[in-house]
Amino acid sequence: MKQWIVFEGGEGSGKTTLMSALQRELEARGIDLLCTREPGGVPIAEAIRRIILAPENTELDPIAEALLFAASRRQHLVERVLPALEKGQMVLMDRFVDSSLAYQGYAREIGLEEVRTINAFATQGHMPDIVFLLDIDPVKGLERINANRDSLNRLDLETLRFHEKVREGYLYLARNNPKIIVLDATKGVEELLKEVLEVLF
Ligand code: TYD
Repeated sequence: MKQWIVFEGGEGSGKTTLMSALQRELEARGIDLLCTREPGGVPIAEAIRRIILAPENTELDPIAEALLFAASRRQHLVERVLPALEKGQMVLMDRFVDSSLAYQGYAREIGLEEVRTINAFATQGHMPDIVFLLDIDPVKGLERINANRDSLNRLDLETLRFHEKVREGYLYLARNNPKIIVLDATKGVEELLKEVLEVLF
């Protein structure tokens, strides 16, 4: 049984929509679950995230950014995720370590191994049972967020090339990690939900 499930993907890949559909389906089956995303309403993690995502923080150093993501992750993990897992709840999570590997390690070129190392320290080896990667061409993904959002954060404002590298990074990680299941994010939510449920049950 998969207890801890993470969703990953680039901007506009539809993670939130698919996760809500899965949440409804699992709750209808009577499964006790926690649906969360970093920083997940954990005040310390929220405060760290505000620094990272503020559009005015153009001076933020890439390594400092990676360390801040890892710090925010650690706090959310300890305060929210681990207690839920200990209680036997199923945990659905929007983004985790693979986001840092794809965005900071690969796209920002800090290095996958370096980012893996700081995240191994932050998570102390606690890793999800399975990761669903919603793969989409960033041109399509960015079209979706531009149509749906009134405000863009500092990372949304990166160049198209950056988002293409994020995608490449994710696909590279998926090729090297059997726990990462790649889904075609251009498919409809009903079809994607069916694919996810087939993997989980
Ligand atoms: P948010 O609006 O929360 O993301 P989403 O795209 O999931 O709706 O913004 C999070 C941004 O931070 C997003 O651009 C991805 C990026 N990010 C990283 O660069 N590294 C990380 O470790 C995480 C968790 C997110």
